[in-house]
Amino acid sequence: MEAGVSKSVLYKCWLNYDRGAKLSKENGEILSRIVTEKESEIISSAVKELEMAAQNIIGRKPEVLKETNLPHVFLGIDKDEKSDLIDNGFSIKKDKGVVNILGKDENGILYGVFEFLRQIYTGKNIDNINIVDNPKNMLRMINHWDNMSGDIERGYAGQSIFYKDNCVIDKMDRIEDYARLAASIFINGIVINNVNVHQYETKLISCEYLPKVKKIADVFRKYGIKLYLSINFAAPMELGGLNTADPLDAEVKAWWKKTAENIYRSIPDFGGFLVKADSEFRPGPFTYGRDHADGANMLGEALEPFGGIVIWRCFVYNCLLDWRDRTKDRARAAYDNFKPLDGKFKDNVILQVKNGPMDFQIREPISPLFGAMPNTNEIAEFEITQEYTGQQKHLCYLVPLWKETLDFDTLVEGKGSTVSEIVNGNLFKRKYGGVAAVSNIGNDESWTGHPLAQANFYGYGRMIWDTTLSAEEIAKEWVELTFGVFEGEDKIVSMLMQSRDIYEEYTCPLGIGWMVNPNHHYGPSVDGYEYAAWGTYHYADFRSLGVDRTVKTGTGYTAEYAKPIADMYENVETCPEELLLFFHNMEYKYVLKSGKTIIQHIYDTHFEGVERVYDLKEKWLSLKGKIDDEIFDAVLDRLEIQIKDSKEWRDVVNSYFYRKTGIQDEHKRKIY
Ligand code: GCU
Repeated sequence: MEAGVSKSVLYKCWLNYDRGAKLSKENGEILSRIVTEKESEIISSAVKELEMAAQNIIGRKPEVLKETNLPHVFLGIDKDEKSDLIDNGFSIKKDKGVVNILGKDENGILYGVFEFLRQIYTGKNIDNINIVDNPKNMLRMINHWDNMSGDIERGYAGQSIFYKDNCVIDKMDRIEDYARLAASIFINGIVINNVNVHQYETKLISCEYLPKVKKIADVFRKYGIKLYLSINFAAPMELGGLNTADPLDAEVKAWWKKTAENIYRSIPDFGGFLVKADSEFRPGPFTYGRDHADGANMLGEALEPFGGIVIWRCFVYNCLLDWRDRTKDRARAAYDNFKPLDGKFKDNVILQVKNGPMDFQIREPISPLFGAMPNTNEIAEFEITQEYTGQQKHLCYLVPLWKETLDFDTLVEGKGSTVSEIVNGNLFKRKYGGVAAVSNIGNDESWTGHPLAQANFYGYGRMIWDTTLSAEEIAKEWVELTFGVFEGEDKIVSMLMQSRDIYEEYTCPLGIGWMVNPNHHYGPSVDGYEYAAWGTYHYADFRSLGVDRTVKTGTGYTAEYAKPIADMYENVETCPEELLLFFHNMEYKYVLKSGKTIIQHIYDTHFEGVERVYDLKEKWLSLKGKIDDEIFDAVLDRLEIQIKDSKEWRDVVNSYFYRKTGIQDEHKRKIY
C-alpha cells in the first residue's frame, strides 16, 4: 500500500471519523460553523480535523467564519489573565449555542479540538460540556529508533515512515498522517532517528541533509510537534574532519556551535539533541577522560542561544560485564554513573532515565536514579515498541506497567515523592519535566503490526498528559474510538487489561528478566541473552536461582533506594514477590505466600499462561461480526502465533528448570 493514501480501518486507528457519532440537532447546528479569530498553521490543522469529523456527523463541511451570531464552535486563545490554563492546556465550554474551545496557546486549541471530538466519538453528552484540561508533563516525547536504511531498530511494524535507502522519504503524506495521530494524543516532541547513530544518520545535522530534515519539521510544526535529532558524539570527527571529539576541546566546541547555528537557520523551532554516549560501543566523553556532564554541557552551550535542549540518556553500562563476578551488578550502572554528577549539568540538559535499572523487561523495579538527583532535570523513558514483550506478535498492553512506574512512591522526600512528581519536575521544582518513549510504529498498514498494539501508542500519550487516568479508563477510551461504542467493548478492554500478566506468566518468572534468544530477543532461551554471555545472569543452579542484590550478602544495589524502600527490598519477607528473584537468590523449595514453592509456581504459571492465551482467543472469536473483519482477522492471526509461541515458552522454561532441579510437577503434567 502506498504511503499516506490508505483509508482502511487499520490505518485510521482511533481517528476513524467514519465510525459515525450521534449529535442532537442543536449540537449538530453548532458543529456546522467554525469561527476562528486568527489564521495559523496549527489552527488550520484544528479546523481540518473538525471539518473531517463534521462531514461524517452532520454530513457536510462546516462554514469557517470570522464571526457570526448563529450557533458555532469558536477556536481561540484564552486571554483571561485569571484562567487556570498552563502551556498547552485548553478549556471546552458550551455557552448559549457556542462551544468555546480555548487554548493557552495554539497547541492548546488543537488539543481542545481533539478532546472535543473524543468526547463526541466516545458517546459523551456534550450538552453542558465544561472541561478544563492541563498537561501533567511538559515534554511529551516519542523517540524513533529509525535508521536511514529504512530499517527500524527493534521495530516490528514494517519499515521507517521517514527514510528509505539512506535518504529521507520524498512524500510527506504518511508523515502528516502520523503527525495527526501523535498530536491527537498531545505529543509535542519527536526524535526522528535512532539513538544508535550510524554513518548516514550522523549526516542529518549537515548542510547537505538539513533541507530534507526541515521538510519533516515543517510537517510536524503544523501539529504543534517539535523535531529533535539523535546525534553522534563523534560527529566533529566523522563529519567535521577534526581529530578529536573531546568536549573540552575549543575546536570541538566551535564545531558544535556552528552546527547548531546551521540547524536553527533551517529549523528555527528545532527541539534539540538526544544523546546515547559511552554505551553499547557508542562514542562518548569517556574516551577523553571526561565525564557525562562535560559532554552534555558542551552540547547544551551550543544549543542554548537558540532555546534548544540536550536530552542525555542514562542507559550507560558495561555490556561486557562478566556476570560470574557476583560483586558486579549491571542494575547499579545508571545510578553509579550519574548520581555523583548531580548538580553539574546545565539548565538546558535533561537526563533521560529508563523506567527500570535493566532494559524494558516485563517486570523490573523502578530505576533508583528517579529522585536521586534533585539538582538535575530528569525525564523517564519507556519502550512502546515491544522488544522484550512479544514484539507486536503477542498481545501486551503496557500502560499498566508504565503506570506502576509513574505511581511508584520513591519516598525520597517523604510520602508523595512519586516517580510521576519527580519526572514532571514538580517535586524538585525543576525547569524541565516530561516523559519519552520508544515508538512502536512503522509503515505497516496498521502502523503497529498487531492492531491492538495501537492501544500502547495511544495509551502512552494519554497517560503522560493526564497521569491520573487509569490504565483501564485509557483502554476503554481507545476501544471506543477504534471500534465504536458497542456491546462487547468490555471484552476487548478485559483482553488488554489481562495481557501483561498473561505474558509475564509464560515468560520469565518473579522479576528475573531476559530468558530471550540472543540479539533479536524474541522467543525463549533461558541462557541466551547476549550481554550475559556466560549464562549466569539468573544464577540458576540445582538448588536456587535469582540475583542477590542485598546489602547484607549481595551486590548492595538495594541501598540505592530511599531507606524504607531499600529495607522493603532487602528483606525476603517484605520484598514484593513479583520481584523476589530480581533481589534475592532463593531456593526452589522456598514457599511463596500462595503456599506454592518457587519451582511449582514456575510450572503453574507457565501452564496457566498458555491456557489464558487460549481464553484470549475465545474472547476474540466471540466478537466476530461485531467488529471490522479486517481488524478481526489480523488480530486472530496474531493470537494463533501467540498460542504457538507461548507453548514454546512454557516448554522451554519448564523443562529447563525441571532438568536443573529434578523436581517433579505436583500435578504430573508432561514437561517437555
Ligand atoms: C536495548 C536494545 C537496543 C538499544 C538499547 C538502548 O539494549 O536492545 O537495541 O539500542 O536498548 O536503549 O540504547
